[in-house]
Amino acid sequence: MNMSPTPATDPFLSLSDVTAGYGNTTVIHDVDIEVREGEIACLIGPNGSGKSTLMKSIYGFADVFEGTVTFDGTDVTQRSPQESLASGMSYVLQDSSVFPDMSVHENMLMGGYIFDDDERAAARAEELYDEFPVLGDIRNQRAGTLSGGQRRLLELARALVVEPDLMMLDEPSIGLEPRFIDDVFERIEQLNELGTTILLVEQNAEKGLSVADRGFVLASGEIKFTGTGTELLNDEQVGRLYLGG
Ligand SMILES: Nc1ncnc2c1ncn2[C@@H]1O[C@H](COP(=O)(O)OP(=O)(O)O)[C@@H](O)[C@H]1O
Ligand SMILES: [Mg+2]
Repeated sequence: MNMSPTPATDPFLSLSDVTAGYGNTTVIHDVDIEVREGEIACLIGPNGSGKSTLMKSIYGFADVFEGTVTFDGTDVTQRSPQESLASGMSYVLQDSSVFPDMSVHENMLMGGYIFDDDERAAARAEELYDEFPVLGDIRNQRAGTLSGGQRRLLELARALVVEPDLMMLDEPSIGLEPRFIDDVFERIEQLNELGTTILLVEQNAEKGLSVADRGFVLASGEIKFTGTGTELLNDEQVGRLYLGG
């Protein structure tokens, strides 16, 4: 008899026994995580533990050596970044990825480079300027001249051009002044309320876990703790080792 409880829904995103890295370098080992549709999930862990690599292994920027990545019921283990974007994932990289010599608007259009029809990205950009009026105001400005907060907003909005089902954000608050950090987190929560599933890497572990339904702690390329955001925030060991408490 099978005694395990039947989950309410199948996971939207899952990694099963994933070992991944770059070329002949292995960075993450036997990673098992599950994210359900509509959740905010947050990955925390020390610098160099493999958080970015884990995200890259989902999206196709890193090599998956063993194991399986499943997204929305489909095996996506060997997909390219372009295929991932076309299948409903969007990814804001840790390091700034705006094109500094292009205008804000040209950067926005790049967010829809996979569309066959150029009008679609342009129309979507207009919708996003309504949502982010700050960006609309500076649409003709060269992206290289933006402040840190404006640049992060552009990265976020550009990733929304495709209307993703899953949004992956690698350290969205890093390098931002506190008032911009709160703004970015509000955006993330709003986006989630509108139905987007979020996977977040956050160096501000307390902030990240406080908005998360589910959290994972990665250290030395292995998942050490999994729980709800609240469980991890209240866990004595997690607190001592990873939250500086
Ligand atoms: N493109 C790459 N090629 C080879 N090794 C890499 C590459 N990117 C990252 N690494 C290595 O993978 C390890 C984990 O890095 P990363 O995933 O960026 O960690 P985190 O995001 O947790 O700080 C580090 O030792 C780093 O040097
Ligand atoms: Mg990183």
